[in-house]
Amino acid sequence: MAKQNQTLGEFIIEKQTEFKYSSGELSKLINAIRLAAKVVNHEVNKAGLVDILGTAGETNVQGEQQQKLDVLANDAFIRTLTNREIVCGIASEEEDTFVKINSSDRNNQNKYVVLIDPLDGSSNIDVNVSVGTIFSIYRRVTPVGTPVTEEDFLQPGKNQVAAGYVIYGTSTMLVYTTGHGVNGFTLNPAIGTFYLSHPNMIYPDNGRIYSINEGNYVHFPQGVKDYIKYCQTEEDDRPYTSRYIGSLVSDFHRNMIKGGIFIYPKSSKATDGKLRLLYECNPMAFLAEQANAKASNGFERILDIQPTELHQRVPFFCGSKKMVEKAEEFMQKYR
Ligand code: AHG
Ligand code: MN
Ligand code: MN
Ligand code: MN
Repeated sequence: MAKQNQTLGEFIIEKQTEFKYSSGELSKLINAIRLAAKVVNHEVNKAGLVDILGTAGETNVQGEQQQKLDVLANDAFIRTLTNREIVCGIASEEEDTFVKINSSDRNNQNKYVVLIDPLDGSSNIDVNVSVGTIFSIYRRVTPVGTPVTEEDFLQPGKNQVAAGYVIYGTSTMLVYTTGHGVNGFTLNPAIGTFYLSHPNMIYPDNGRIYSINEGNYVHFPQGVKDYIKYCQTEEDDRPYTSRYIGSLVSDFHRNMIKGGIFIYPKSSKATDGKLRLLYECNPMAFLAEQANAKASNGFERILDIQPTELHQRVPFFCGSKKMVEKAEEFMQKYR
């Protein structure tokens, strides 16, 4: 039962005993993410007032123009996690390869690795539309005390111990799971405290919103084209409503509250779609499943996929169970 006015800090302490390995380390880690989120929130909120809009002049490993806020958010998360010496490694959408973290006193004694999309929806920054941060946490698989390796990051999503996102929207929220449901916290900006505002978030079983970049329609697989036509057909509770922000975090958040499906399929231009398995799809899939929803690549469960590369991309179908199952039916016809 949610307590009135419970803060995220209080919630983390209360839930500490629920963790499988309850050394307090994961709690400290989530606390550090909470802090970094506040730093990024502060920056995002002043964008437009100070010179942090626009491109940073570099292209990242994804082949994308880095925005100044991409760099700023990446630095804020890496700095906060490094300074607190609570993880042994970090992988980020904005870094070519993973970052090893050596603790000053006890070399590599930390058990957790973090994977982040520091700023999700970069293309929306300059037009004052919601952006986000996505994070994903695993226990390392190599022995504690040895340098972290790529193997520690290339784990299937089902191994995640925690995942979540921050949405810098009309209000700023931190939504996360440790495998015991999904809880959402809203920031009171006046005092800089997150309060539990959305306890035990559940995706509606069915919905009436579909979210896909339809501009790419001609490049989509036939199964996706047919599903879009199904969404638009006047029958039963259809046509559905089309809503697409272009920030995965914001599109996911809305669909979780209202019921809906998000699709970023493969296309004739991008054979694995666009979204990154490790920084975007796995954490969102973990949250989705914890909120009674579903996430697949159109055929198989996202969380079962064994990653082979840090920056691997994957087609993404995520949302209300019945809607994802219906979309998968269409995909199956052309398998
Ligand atoms: P990022 O800003 O972290 O690179 O992610 C952008 C992603 C995701 O947020 C969104 O769902 C998708 O790109 C939008 O892509 P399109 O512009 O191709 O629709
Ligand atoms: Mn990007
Ligand atoms: Mn992203
Ligand atoms: Mn990003």
